[in-house]
Amino acid sequence: MSSIPENMKAVILSEGGAKPQVANIPVPQPGAGEVLVKMHASPINPSDLAFLEGGYGIEKKYPAVPGFEGSGTVVAAGKGVLPKLWMGKKVACAASPIYDGCWAEYMVTKAGMCVPLSKNISLDQASMMFVNPMTALAFFDIYKKLPNPTKKHRGIINTAGASALGRMVIKFGQKQGIPVISVVRREEQVEILKADGAEYIVDSSDPNFETNLKKLAHQLNATVIFDAVGGEMVQMLLDAAPKGSNLFIYGRLSADACEISPGDLIFTGNQIRGFWLTCWLHSKSFLQSIMNTRKIQSLLGKELGTTIHQKFSIEQISEALEIYQNNMSKGKVLIQF
Ligand SMILES: NC(=O)c1ccc[n+]([C@@H]2O[C@H](COP(=O)([O-])OP(=O)(O)OC[C@H]3O[C@@H](n4cnc5c(N)ncnc54)[C@H](OP(=O)(O)O)[C@@H]3O)[C@@H](O)[C@H]2O)c1
Repeated sequence: MSSIPENMKAVILSEGGAKPQVANIPVPQPGAGEVLVKMHASPINPSDLAFLEGGYGIEKKYPAVPGFEGSGTVVAAGKGVLPKLWMGKKVACAASPIYDGCWAEYMVTKAGMCVPLSKNISLDQASMMFVNPMTALAFFDIYKKLPNPTKKHRGIINTAGASALGRMVIKFGQKQGIPVISVVRREEQVEILKADGAEYIVDSSDPNFETNLKKLAHQLNATVIFDAVGGEMVQMLLDAAPKGSNLFIYGRLSADACEISPGDLIFTGNQIRGFWLTCWLHSKSFLQSIMNTRKIQSLLGKELGTTIHQKFSIEQISEALEIYQNNMSKGKVLIQF
């Protein structure tokens, strides 16, 4: 195994909203229960953009290294059974909420936030194993646990349908016989999803969007709604869905506040709540978490695979961010180390 240098390149955010810079900083050392991962790759996700802007649910001490998920090889282990077990292994890893993140040549994280990889999983796909695949799994877990007093088969509405996550939700739905209505915002995205085999797509830029969505939502009894957009989309979803729907807001891509009519909560039996993967993960036992990561690994090359648009070196972070933000539906942008 190659020796560990004293310093490494890392993306540094001096404060929320600042321009991320590449700097040389000391390689961190793992403490008890922790490992040092030599990073292979890390994607740019909407949550990273929110963190860069200073508006994410996790606040880190600045200056901070961004990046919530990635992959690499464990090259040093702190005290404890798990760190020693993971030593030398290729892993998918998530950043610790209190330490620096994945956009660096090396990262210290808790051993419990690393998953050793099966042989057939590429390090590129493994770098995107937590955030979206786990969320797709969570959506169907939520769907199955929601009370269904009418006993009628229910469909799902999901917005930002051409996102990496949206495409996983479609494939998961198809596998389980659950109809998924994907809401997209551009004609090109309709084509992307048709090529994926999606059956129910509505385009919010179509002048008949609201009528089309309502018709389909009633036809498919789509009473379980996952919304990544926020803003005025929320009211449109409530207007379109059958009464008694459950709406989960999991993203705020529009950046606008959601305005809804109080009557939509009072007279309809509709319910609205937020969804955050971090909270869902905390609600699972250690055993359930292990089973979920196994399930995801077995589906990673299939239902849960992610299209990669481009790869950049750490020095190209500004270009990588720009390309990602302007081409989100083309696939993920990876930073490679
Ligand atoms: N709450 C959670 O725990 C959790 C977990 C995972 C993911 N998420 C959320 O899930 C969503 C998708 O994530 P992802 O990684 O799959 O995204 P992604 O692959 O990077 O794609 C983002 C998608 O959102 C679309 N989009 C961007 N701005 C939009 C807007 N204002 N209105 C409608 N569509 C818009 C993009 O379309 P264009 O190509 O037209 O820009 C693109 O299709 C994000 O909101 C993310 O934050 C939340």
